[in-house]
Amino acid sequence: MSNRKILVTNALPFANGPIHVGHLLGYVQADIWVRFQRMRGNEVAYVCADDTHGTAIMLRAEKEGITPEELINRVNGEHRRDFAGFHVDFDIYYTTHSDENRELANLIYSRLRDADKIAERSITQLYDPEKEMFLADRFIKGECPKCGAADQYGDNCESCSSTYDATDLKNPYSTISGATPVKKESTHFFFKLPEFTDMLKEWTRSGVLVPQVANKLAEWLDAGLQEWDISRDAPYFGFEIPGAPEKYFYVWLDAPIGYMASFKKLCDTHGELNFDDFWSANAPTELYHFIGKDIINFHALFWPAMLETAGFKKPDLISVNGFLTVNGQKMSKSRGTFIMAETYLQHLNPEYLRYYFAAKLGNTPEDLDLNLDDFVQRVNSDMVGKVVNLASRSAGFISKNFGGNLGDNLEVPELLKEFSDAGEEIAELYEAREFSKAIRLIMSLADKANQYIADKEPWVIAKENPEDPQVQSICATGINLFRVLVVYLKPILPELASKVESFLKIEPLSWQDAQQVLTNHTIDKFKPLMTRVETDKVEQMVEASKESLMTSETETPAAPESNSPTGKDPVSPEIEFPDFAKVDLRIVKIINAEHVEGADKLLKLTLSLGPDDEGNDIQRTVFSGIKSAYNPEQLVGMHTVMVANLKPRKMKFGLSDGMILASGDGSKVFLLEPHEGAAPGTRVT
Ligand code: MSP
Ligand code: ZN
Repeated sequence: MSNRKILVTNALPFANGPIHVGHLLGYVQADIWVRFQRMRGNEVAYVCADDTHGTAIMLRAEKEGITPEELINRVNGEHRRDFAGFHVDFDIYYTTHSDENRELANLIYSRLRDADKIAERSITQLYDPEKEMFLADRFIKGECPKCGAADQYGDNCESCSSTYDATDLKNPYSTISGATPVKKESTHFFFKLPEFTDMLKEWTRSGVLVPQVANKLAEWLDAGLQEWDISRDAPYFGFEIPGAPEKYFYVWLDAPIGYMASFKKLCDTHGELNFDDFWSANAPTELYHFIGKDIINFHALFWPAMLETAGFKKPDLISVNGFLTVNGQKMSKSRGTFIMAETYLQHLNPEYLRYYFAAKLGNTPEDLDLNLDDFVQRVNSDMVGKVVNLASRSAGFISKNFGGNLGDNLEVPELLKEFSDAGEEIAELYEAREFSKAIRLIMSLADKANQYIADKEPWVIAKENPEDPQVQSICATGINLFRVLVVYLKPILPELASKVESFLKIEPLSWQDAQQVLTNHTIDKFKPLMTRVETDKVEQMVEASKESLMTSETETPAAPESNSPTGKDPVSPEIEFPDFAKVDLRIVKIINAEHVEGADKLLKLTLSLGPDDEGNDIQRTVFSGIKSAYNPEQLVGMHTVMVANLKPRKMKFGLSDGMILASGDGSKVFLLEPHEGAAPGTRVT
């Protein structure tokens, strides 16, 4: 059998924020598939990188007071750490801000232009005269031109759902500076996508996509494609377009080229890999992209059209994952379900999540729910109860009564043969990315194995005669069945597999090893391979994720996510007066306010609660996420309201002893200010 050569990519995460459990779904999925292919003896290059360009990254760096390069370097380290923590084992994790990517982007662009696929024309856009930059729709708000609702984004109204051009908004303002935008003309470059309609209609039906995704694309293709604006004006963090000063490639032009650039970098460090073998127009190798459902158009329309024109190979398969929900809802900071990879790893074993994802993943882009109760139950009953338990029940007798030796005959070789024979069917399911079906099959085998041990009751025989050879052969059978299960689970649970390999004293398991029998072999003493998921650890993780609402540098703390269609929080369930009275609200005077080194959202405030009985000023230190709205100087001397009896919380930057009150809608924050004359320390009732 000749080996396949496969290049596998994962979507390149944006370099402006941390990896969360939602991201992980697609990365864990691809990593499992890659590990499976390698166990089968195929050659895989598995690449990823940070997607580092664009306005969002530029603005974020500016807000943190660092250069974009500093930001993307820091985030690159964080992303690598998080992926490694979840055993997502890329051969290279690179960056789109590289020489390789710049050269390839220039090359591809020049080929598009030479093929007459680039149009050039002037367009009118809104421009922020203060910030001196053009504004994308998401940086403009104003009143809806149809219904008049306030604070609507530049492309559609959340109140009446109408869509419009940003230039139609009434009383528009820039969300970056607050300035009133003006209209301004500028030359842009467009990729002539409509010319590829026929090619794409055929290609999207050629087996590269599951039918659900191809159907979605057919809707777009039938509605008619638009030319694609691939340029942005300075200031922009990205690659300047050759021959067009002050014009930059739009981030989505060079992002997928980042797949090629990362692979190129990998080739440069790995002599045996050759770039052209994987990218030339008729390369015999395979190219697989794993992406999430929100970025289908970029990968299945623009990207193949670019590749074809530039004389490169088009993908053989695009695998699309759905979105992750937690406990049935969109991930939410206020509920503590916006769980960062890092937070998860501080509390739980990454293989629990890998297993849970696999147990629910198919090859269609359906959303997947991480139900935390089900997660605990499922992992404990399958992984610990069925798999690990099988080994622990069998291994004890082998090491205690037989010096660790498995002996030379198995009690029921037919059962082991049944396990081995299932290998091809399970492999086909892995190959088709039908992981949940594979797991169902593997767990039904695990049930049989446990049933076998339960029926044979080796402990009963051992009671009469600990050295009865029957005990040895039953337990050796159990160990062999367990070993085959571990082969089948190894793509999902690499760490467990490696512990098992050392416990059984065997070489790293490959798929073929499911066909072998382990006899006349001495194994090590059994050590716990995996512990149960503890519910309180899960609860602590959720609590810690709530906390990062206050410490997180990515979201406005005053605006927890809401699920109501209008984007406004519905009024919470009613409470009794004594519940309200528990909250000790006090008037305070802000006597000092300062920036916090390294904090993007927070200001450090010193609050005065007025004099105590001895006449000494009572003071509190509070960290508050209001930096986006206020300068420290503005705040000093102001009066506001604080929750004085809130349990102090330890934050990244120090202890926050209380909280001040502010209102916010996610984009703006307003501090509450009492009427003139309210004295510090007086209670608010
Ligand atoms: N930078 C682009 C991809 C460029 S590829 C050339 C991007 N980055 S992202 O950070 O927003 O998303 C990275 C991946 O995570 C994407 O595949 C995206 O679909 C996926 N997901 C982001 N949030 C997700 C969930 N809540 N659930 C599942 N996948 C999610 O898009
Ligand atoms: Zn409206």
